Amino acid sequence: MAGRGAPEPMIARRSGALSGESHVPGDKSISHRSLILGAMCVGETRIAGLLEGADVLATADAMRAFGAEVTDLGEGNWSVHGVGVGGFGEPADVIDCGNSGTGARLVMGAMATTPITATLTGDASLRSRPMSRVTEPLAEFGARAVGHSGGRLPMTITGATDPVPVNYTMPVASAQVKSAILLAGLNAPGESVVVEREATRDHTERMLRGFGAVIDVDARAGGRVITLEGHAELLPQDISVPCDPSSAAFPVAAALIVEGSDVLVPNVGMNPTRTGFFATLREMGADLALENEREEGGEPVADIRARFSPELKGIEVPPERAASMIDEYPILAIVSAFAEGRTIMRGVGELRVKECDRIDAMATGLRAAGGTVREGEDWWEIEGMGPAGVPGGARVEARLDHRIAMAFLSLGLGAKEAVTVDDAAPIATSFPTFAALMTGLGAALEPVQSG
Ligand code: S3P
Repeated sequence: MAGRGAPEPMIARRSGALSGESHVPGDKSISHRSLILGAMCVGETRIAGLLEGADVLATADAMRAFGAEVTDLGEGNWSVHGVGVGGFGEPADVIDCGNSGTGARLVMGAMATTPITATLTGDASLRSRPMSRVTEPLAEFGARAVGHSGGRLPMTITGATDPVPVNYTMPVASAQVKSAILLAGLNAPGESVVVEREATRDHTERMLRGFGAVIDVDARAGGRVITLEGHAELLPQDISVPCDPSSAAFPVAAALIVEGSDVLVPNVGMNPTRTGFFATLREMGADLALENEREEGGEPVADIRARFSPELKGIEVPPERAASMIDEYPILAIVSAFAEGRTIMRGVGELRVKECDRIDAMATGLRAAGGTVREGEDWWEIEGMGPAGVPGGARVEARLDHRIAMAFLSLGLGAKEAVTVDDAAPIATSFPTFAALMTGLGAALEPVQSG
């Protein structure tokens, strides 16, 4: 699994114009949910365009461990023969979720109201991440969890024998927590209610409705009240996974900062709970166009065209936008370094508990590359250096974080001097084709010998 073998350093050099079509892989969030919901139906769910990244493959293995039959049919097509809501069997061994917080937290939710015991673990990054944000609401259903100190993995969870429905107001804006509660609610009696103060990505709600669950979403004052009827019977579906806007963010950003670029990224998911990054880029003056906007499989999609944008301006990113672009702050920091003026990002404390502390990782790497970054617990700001961007010429640490690795490799394509990332292997968790795809557009990216 990524991050467990020898490090795979990679270098990115200042590149000529990037051009062409960039077919990014399937959406990571929807891919995890397709496998899990497929496993919670009786019958066959077919998935087209599944992200075959390490994170999602770990979830496929987890579903097999609980008794579902998960088959790779080739070319992104997968089949899941599920065991039904409440039908999970006890896994024979520890479940390894790799690098994936989404996988770990959604799996915990999916098993929390079935009377089985499972132990979950993951790589060093995942083992350092907080799990009590999920185990606390799951305890209200009657599930028990015993983990390492600080509520970390490895953790053993025993699902409730007689689950009770919950009414839970989330203290953090997290789609993973919300989704874990909804998945647990499927096998509880009565109605379970989740209240989120800020709207987070709503793929679980949309997909649950598609799978036949009775779910009501009441939007109020920025947040949402979600009510799910328990003891649900899910019906297998045919799912077509749109391309991941969080992966599209990298070729889009690279096109904005590399002189002369013109890149098209087709078929990107445009769910409004995911598009804050593109709205922010537009406010900064990016040359960005949405073409061919349409709806596919219950999700809005569009083709994104991005062109070199030498007149980017630093802005203040509204904190209420954070949830809709939470995974895009690392690459936004890179784009900000190529803008005139300061970019300020507030209300982003969650970045400190992602695959690594993303504010610290980005600030450290940007400073090493000649940039200026100021930070507080839940805010940071980048001093733009204009279209020339930061000088580069640094070796930076990816810290087992795919998005940190891709952000700094994107920086290297536009910086004056090359940027080396100490380990590009984690990129395989979400975007295994990143290097090939970027090279195909004209990016000067290549592996370097370790050491
Ligand atoms: C995800 C939710 C977000 C995001 C992650 C995927 C999901 O995490 O950062 O990459 O699929 O639900 P949080 O729920 O911790 O915000």
